[in-house]
Amino acid sequence: MKVLMINGSPRAEGCTFTALSEAGKTLSESGIDWEIFQTGTEPIRGCMACGACSNLNDRCVFNGDAVNRALEKAETADGFIFGSPVHYASASGSMTSFMDRFFYAGPGFAGKPGAAVVSCRRGGAASAFDQLNKYLTIGGMPVVSSQYWNSVHGNTPDEVREDLEGLQVMRALGRNMAWLLKCIDAGKKTGIEYPRSEKRVWTNFIR
Ligand SMILES: Cc1cc2nc3c(=O)[nH]c(=O)nc-3n(C[C@H](O)[C@H](O)[C@H](O)COP(=O)(O)O)c2cc1C
Repeated sequence: MKVLMINGSPRAEGCTFTALSEAGKTLSESGIDWEIFQTGTEPIRGCMACGACSNLNDRCVFNGDAVNRALEKAETADGFIFGSPVHYASASGSMTSFMDRFFYAGPGFAGKPGAAVVSCRRGGAASAFDQLNKYLTIGGMPVVSSQYWNSVHGNTPDEVREDLEGLQVMRALGRNMAWLLKCIDAGKKTGIEYPRSEKRVWTNFIR
Protein backbone atom coordinates (compact mmCIF):
# COMPACT_ATOMS: atom_id res chain seq x y z
CA MET A 1 0.00 0.00 0.00
CA LYS A 2 1.16 3.51 -0.75
CA VAL A 3 0.62 7.02 0.54
CA LEU A 4 1.03 9.94 -1.83
CA MET A 5 2.17 13.07 -0.03
CA ILE A 6 1.82 16.44 -1.71
CA ASN A 7 4.26 19.19 -0.72
CA GLY A 8 2.80 22.59 -1.58
CA SER A 9 5.81 24.55 -0.35
CA PRO A 10 7.97 26.71 -2.59
CA ARG A 11 10.89 25.27 -0.62
CA ALA A 12 11.23 21.69 -1.80
CA GLU A 13 13.20 20.57 1.24
CA GLY A 14 11.93 23.10 3.75
CA CYS A 15 9.78 22.82 6.84
CA THR A 16 6.76 21.14 5.24
CA PHE A 17 9.05 18.55 3.68
CA THR A 18 10.62 17.95 7.10
CA ALA A 19 7.20 17.37 8.65
CA LEU A 20 6.04 15.07 5.85
CA SER A 21 9.27 13.08 6.04
CA GLU A 22 8.76 12.52 9.76
CA ALA A 23 5.31 11.04 9.06
CA GLY A 24 6.99 8.96 6.36
CA LYS A 25 9.33 7.39 8.94
CA THR A 26 6.48 5.71 10.81
CA LEU A 27 4.69 4.82 7.58
CA SER A 28 7.85 2.96 6.53
CA GLU A 29 8.15 1.30 9.95
CA SER A 30 4.57 0.12 9.45
CA GLY A 31 5.30 -1.34 6.02
CA ILE A 32 3.57 1.36 3.98
CA ASP A 33 5.28 2.91 0.94
CA TRP A 34 5.17 6.65 0.48
CA GLU A 35 6.36 9.34 -1.86
CA ILE A 36 6.52 13.12 -1.64
CA PHE A 37 5.25 14.82 -4.77
CA GLN A 38 6.57 18.38 -5.03
CA THR A 39 4.21 21.00 -6.42
CA GLY A 40 4.97 24.29 -4.68
CA THR A 41 8.15 25.13 -6.59
CA GLU A 42 6.43 25.70 -9.92
CA PRO A 43 3.61 28.04 -10.90
CA ILE A 44 0.20 26.39 -10.57
CA ARG A 45 -2.73 27.96 -12.36
CA GLY A 46 -5.96 28.49 -10.53
CA CYS A 47 -9.17 26.77 -11.57
CA MET A 48 -10.92 28.65 -14.40
CA ALA A 49 -14.27 26.96 -13.65
CA CYS A 50 -14.43 26.02 -17.34
CA GLY A 51 -15.90 22.59 -16.51
CA ALA A 52 -13.86 20.93 -19.25
CA CYS A 53 -12.60 18.36 -16.73
CA SER A 54 -16.02 16.72 -16.72
CA ASN A 55 -15.16 15.38 -20.20
CA LEU A 56 -11.47 14.73 -19.66
CA ASN A 57 -11.41 11.46 -17.70
CA ASP A 58 -10.21 12.84 -14.40
CA ARG A 59 -7.74 15.31 -15.80
CA CYS A 60 -7.56 19.10 -15.88
CA VAL A 61 -7.64 21.02 -19.14
CA PHE A 62 -4.31 22.63 -18.17
CA ASN A 63 -1.77 19.97 -18.97
CA GLY A 64 1.39 21.90 -18.33
CA ASP A 65 1.71 21.88 -14.55
CA ALA A 66 1.81 19.47 -11.63
CA VAL A 67 -1.91 18.81 -11.28
CA ASN A 68 -2.32 16.18 -14.00
CA ARG A 69 1.00 14.57 -13.07
CA ALA A 70 -0.23 14.25 -9.49
CA LEU A 71 -3.61 12.89 -10.65
CA GLU A 72 -1.75 10.19 -12.55
CA LYS A 73 0.19 9.23 -9.43
CA ALA A 74 -3.00 9.34 -7.37
CA GLU A 75 -4.39 6.42 -9.38
CA THR A 76 -2.13 4.01 -7.49
CA ALA A 77 -2.27 5.74 -4.08
CA ASP A 78 -4.22 4.23 -1.21
CA GLY A 79 -3.93 7.28 1.04
CA PHE A 80 -2.95 10.93 0.85
CA ILE A 81 -1.23 13.55 2.99
CA PHE A 82 -1.48 17.14 1.79
CA GLY A 83 1.23 19.41 3.22
CA SER A 84 1.54 23.17 2.98
CA PRO A 85 3.37 26.03 4.62
CA VAL A 86 1.12 28.60 6.24
CA HIS A 87 0.96 31.76 4.12
CA TYR A 88 -1.12 34.49 5.71
CA ALA A 89 -2.93 31.97 7.89
CA SER A 90 -3.93 29.88 4.85
CA ALA A 91 -2.38 27.21 2.69
CA SER A 92 0.11 28.64 0.18
CA GLY A 93 -1.41 30.22 -2.93
CA SER A 94 -0.02 27.55 -5.22
CA MET A 95 -1.25 24.79 -2.90
CA THR A 96 -4.73 26.29 -2.90
CA SER A 97 -4.74 26.38 -6.71
CA PHE A 98 -3.39 22.83 -6.79
CA MET A 99 -6.05 21.54 -4.39
CA ASP A 100 -8.92 23.23 -6.23
CA ARG A 101 -7.96 21.62 -9.50
CA PHE A 102 -6.78 18.26 -8.09
CA PHE A 103 -10.12 17.71 -6.38
CA TYR A 104 -12.36 19.31 -9.02
CA ALA A 105 -10.82 17.48 -11.97
CA GLY A 106 -9.93 14.30 -10.11
CA PRO A 107 -11.93 11.09 -9.89
CA GLY A 108 -12.96 11.62 -6.25
CA PHE A 109 -11.17 9.85 -3.46
CA ALA A 110 -14.07 8.62 -1.35
CA GLY A 111 -13.00 5.87 1.01
CA LYS A 112 -9.30 6.69 0.71
CA PRO A 113 -7.81 8.07 3.93
CA GLY A 114 -6.40 11.56 3.84
CA ALA A 115 -4.69 14.00 6.16
CA ALA A 116 -3.49 17.57 6.09
CA VAL A 117 -0.19 18.84 7.50
CA VAL A 118 0.86 22.47 7.85
CA SER A 119 4.03 24.27 8.87
CA CYS A 120 4.17 27.80 10.22
CA ARG A 121 6.62 30.08 11.93
CA ARG A 122 4.21 31.31 14.58
CA GLY A 123 0.47 31.56 13.85
CA GLY A 124 -2.31 30.61 11.44
CA ALA A 125 -1.70 26.87 11.53
CA ALA A 126 -5.24 26.06 12.66
CA SER A 127 -6.98 28.00 9.90
CA ALA A 128 -4.69 26.59 7.19
CA PHE A 129 -5.24 23.09 8.60
CA ASP A 130 -9.01 23.63 8.54
CA GLN A 131 -8.81 24.87 4.96
CA LEU A 132 -7.01 21.75 3.75
CA ASN A 133 -9.29 19.42 5.67
CA LYS A 134 -12.28 20.83 3.79
CA TYR A 135 -11.06 19.15 0.59
CA LEU A 136 -11.06 15.78 2.35
CA THR A 137 -14.40 16.11 4.06
CA ILE A 138 -16.41 17.23 1.04
CA GLY A 139 -15.62 13.98 -0.72
CA GLY A 140 -16.00 11.10 1.71
CA MET A 141 -12.33 10.68 2.58
CA PRO A 142 -11.78 9.25 6.07
CA VAL A 143 -9.69 11.90 7.82
CA VAL A 144 -6.67 10.57 9.67
CA SER A 145 -5.87 12.40 12.86
CA SER A 146 -2.98 12.37 15.28
CA GLN A 147 -2.51 13.26 18.94
CA TYR A 148 -2.84 16.98 18.20
CA TRP A 149 -3.68 19.08 15.13
CA ASN A 150 -1.14 18.29 12.43
CA SER A 151 1.23 21.23 12.48
CA VAL A 152 4.89 21.93 13.05
CA HIS A 153 6.46 25.25 13.96
CA GLY A 154 9.60 26.72 12.46
CA ASN A 155 11.00 28.97 9.80
CA THR A 156 13.75 26.54 8.80
CA PRO A 157 14.01 22.74 8.77
CA ASP A 158 16.42 22.96 11.72
CA GLU A 159 13.83 24.88 13.71
CA VAL A 160 11.21 22.29 12.85
CA ARG A 161 13.58 19.59 14.10
CA GLU A 162 13.56 21.43 17.45
CA ASP A 163 9.75 21.19 17.56
CA LEU A 164 9.78 17.83 19.32
CA GLU A 165 6.04 17.80 19.92
CA GLY A 166 5.28 18.69 16.31
CA LEU A 167 7.53 15.87 15.11
CA GLN A 168 5.85 13.43 17.46
CA VAL A 169 2.47 14.52 16.06
CA MET A 170 3.78 13.68 12.58
CA ARG A 171 5.02 10.25 13.66
CA ALA A 172 1.67 9.49 15.31
CA LEU A 173 -0.06 10.60 12.11
CA GLY A 174 2.03 8.17 10.05
CA ARG A 175 1.22 5.31 12.41
CA ASN A 176 -2.50 6.16 12.42
CA MET A 177 -2.57 6.39 8.63
CA ALA A 178 -0.90 2.98 8.36
CA TRP A 179 -3.36 1.49 10.85
CA LEU A 180 -6.39 2.82 8.97
CA LEU A 181 -5.05 1.64 5.61
CA LYS A 182 -4.61 -1.85 7.03
CA CYS A 183 -8.10 -1.80 8.58
CA ILE A 184 -9.65 -0.81 5.26
CA ASP A 185 -7.67 -3.48 3.45
CA ALA A 186 -8.69 -6.13 5.98
CA GLY A 187 -12.31 -5.00 5.68
CA LYS A 188 -12.25 -5.35 1.89
CA LYS A 189 -10.99 -8.91 2.27
CA THR A 190 -14.07 -9.75 4.32
CA GLY A 191 -16.45 -8.04 1.88
CA ILE A 192 -16.78 -4.67 3.61
CA GLU A 193 -16.78 -2.04 0.89
CA TYR A 194 -17.24 1.72 0.99
CA PRO A 195 -21.01 2.42 1.16
CA ARG A 196 -22.83 2.94 -2.11
CA SER A 197 -24.00 6.51 -2.46
CA GLU A 198 -27.54 7.64 -3.17
CA LYS A 199 -28.41 9.39 -6.41
CA ARG A 200 -26.93 12.84 -5.88
CA VAL A 201 -29.25 15.66 -4.86
CA TRP A 202 -27.85 18.95 -6.14
CA THR A 203 -29.42 22.19 -4.99
CA ASN A 204 -28.06 25.70 -5.15
CA PHE A 205 -28.77 26.45 -1.51
CA ILE A 206 -32.56 25.70 -1.41
CA ARG A 207 -33.71 25.51 -5.01
C1 LIG B 1 4.21 34.64 1.92
C2 LIG B 1 4.43 34.04 3.28
C3 LIG B 1 3.45 34.17 4.24
C4 LIG B 1 3.63 33.59 5.50
N1 LIG B 1 2.64 33.68 6.41
C5 LIG B 1 2.79 33.12 7.64
C6 LIG B 1 1.75 33.17 8.61
O1 LIG B 1 0.64 33.63 8.36
N2 LIG B 1 1.99 32.62 9.82
C7 LIG B 1 3.20 32.05 10.14
O2 LIG B 1 3.36 31.61 11.26
N3 LIG B 1 4.19 31.95 9.24
C8 LIG B 1 4.02 32.47 7.99
N4 LIG B 1 5.02 32.35 7.06
C9 LIG B 1 6.21 31.55 7.39
C10 LIG B 1 6.06 30.07 6.94
O3 LIG B 1 4.78 29.58 7.20
C11 LIG B 1 7.03 29.16 7.67
O4 LIG B 1 8.33 29.62 7.53
C12 LIG B 1 6.90 27.73 7.18
O5 LIG B 1 7.38 26.84 8.16
C13 LIG B 1 7.67 27.53 5.88
O6 LIG B 1 7.50 26.22 5.42
P1 LIG B 1 8.30 25.71 4.13
O7 LIG B 1 9.77 25.75 4.48
O8 LIG B 1 7.83 24.33 3.88
O9 LIG B 1 7.93 26.65 3.02
C14 LIG B 1 4.85 32.89 5.81
C15 LIG B 1 5.83 32.78 4.80
C16 LIG B 1 5.62 33.33 3.56
C17 LIG B 1 6.69 33.17 2.50
